[in-house]
Amino acid sequence: MPLDDSKLWYRDAIFYEVPIKSFYDSNGDGIGDFAGMTKKLDYLKDLGINGIWLLPFYKSPLKDDGYDISDYYSILPEYGTIEDFKILITEAHARNIRVIADLVLNHVSDQNSWFREALKGKDNPKRDWFVWSDDDAKYSGVRVIFSDTEMSNWAWEPKTKQYYWHRFYSHQPDLNYDNPEVREEIKNVVRFWLDMGLDGFRCDAVPYLFEREGTSCENLPETHEYFKELRKLVDTEFPGTILLAEANQWPTDAKAYFGNEDEFHMAFNFPLMPRIFIALATESAAPIVNIINQTLPIPPTCDWGIFLRNHDELTLEMVTDEERDIMYNEYAKLPKMRLNLGIRRRLAPLVDNDRPTIELLYALLLSLPGTPIFYYGDELGMGDNIYLGDRNGVRTPMQWSFDRNAGFSTADTEQLYSPPITNPNYHYETVNVESELRLPTSLLNWVKKMTRVRSKFSDILGHGDVEFLQHKNRRILAYIRTIDGRNMLCIFNLSRRPTYVELDLSRFKGLRPVEAITDAKFPAIGDLPYFFTMPPRSFFWLSLTENDFKEDD
Ligand code: BGC
Repeated sequence: MPLDDSKLWYRDAIFYEVPIKSFYDSNGDGIGDFAGMTKKLDYLKDLGINGIWLLPFYKSPLKDDGYDISDYYSILPEYGTIEDFKILITEAHARNIRVIADLVLNHVSDQNSWFREALKGKDNPKRDWFVWSDDDAKYSGVRVIFSDTEMSNWAWEPKTKQYYWHRFYSHQPDLNYDNPEVREEIKNVVRFWLDMGLDGFRCDAVPYLFEREGTSCENLPETHEYFKELRKLVDTEFPGTILLAEANQWPTDAKAYFGNEDEFHMAFNFPLMPRIFIALATESAAPIVNIINQTLPIPPTCDWGIFLRNHDELTLEMVTDEERDIMYNEYAKLPKMRLNLGIRRRLAPLVDNDRPTIELLYALLLSLPGTPIFYYGDELGMGDNIYLGDRNGVRTPMQWSFDRNAGFSTADTEQLYSPPITNPNYHYETVNVESELRLPTSLLNWVKKMTRVRSKFSDILGHGDVEFLQHKNRRILAYIRTIDGRNMLCIFNLSRRPTYVELDLSRFKGLRPVEAITDAKFPAIGDLPYFFTMPPRSFFWLSLTENDFKEDD
């Protein structure tokens, strides 16, 4: 199947986020690699995926799992070669799967030759590629993001006796975007990888490129300007490729990254993600309705990337103190489950492995406005390991089978980059691709079914408008997705108890709701309110169709 040439391909896509090291080890060294990823493309195709987001695979000392790049123009040898990378792209495209990669452009590793040069002295030409100061009082008041590890955004460099600026770990010096050479170099990095057929970038840590005294040093106009330049570059030199923004911000600031259709094609809907979990914890639709109303509308060719979990902690930086308390109380009862201002857990353990809740969450992810992004392994209900440091507990080997090392690698288990999950509730002997494919009722088979339904309705769910229905039950979330006069009604019971709701559907009088997954037919809509009873944590996707079938259908 050739690559479809739709310019808005990303709006019809379902993305799959995956670290190369975690997916499949093809050469038995205990670390996943490009060749392994290529071998498993058919699995992703079968899952209904048409976009892959690769986590950083560049040369790196791996002190921040590859978000600390020491050479932007090469691949970490453990992951393979540039040739392997190209094969992955070709093979993915042959299956109509696009591939985007992380572009870490705010900072580099302190092992990067640019920084090593800069350390040689204040006159070194690379000195100004970084942000230096004689004291650590500059830009005071700027928040520290990795608050469990770092006390300040400045680190002392003893040899040249100055501080350098870093928004993340102190081994990740920020680049100085006021320097035109830096701006140009990053454009060259973009060209280098897009030239090899990559379909775009997930741009890391977007808000932090520039620093200005007296500001939060986030979302500055200069930062937006630079991304507009990058957008122009990709549109003219690599049409059809996309930029996706990682901007963990409040709704107005996050939305600003779409610009006037001249900045990012996509941005993660960070405001929505925690509020989905808050809605469940409080058994109330309001957090979701309010945040969707704040994050829409967006320009027509742009799209939110919506997600439930990713490779980081479930961040709680952009929520109120009260909302954060709700989240910690419900989802992070043990101190080890927390990291910085967030919760380092996977999807299934977050909701105590409750299958109806997991299904409800996927049904939200696949029907709310935006492009769904899955995190690898969550389609199996993989568990996590909170006893591994940093965010490593949610980055364990993909579970392929009940064989040694979960079928991920033939290495000795001690040699694996991380132990696989063996907690009895999530053990790889049962939670794995092979076993789940064999069991018709498994989570994996259910998710596969849902991606097929999503793709059947991809015009409505990928491009349609959303309207929330008014009613009297705060536990029920109900919305209509609409495009070209075709409608889908989505209803969710967010509570742990059965409940009911009466919806005024009179404007759809004469149409019959047809349940989208099984084609079960419901009675025609009349003048009276339409009555639904809903089991705990349940949902309906109902396509509203012409009443042209017999009563006993
Ligand atoms: C990435 C993290 C990383 C940080 C610093 C984030 O936004 O998602 O995994 O640690 O950037 O690069």
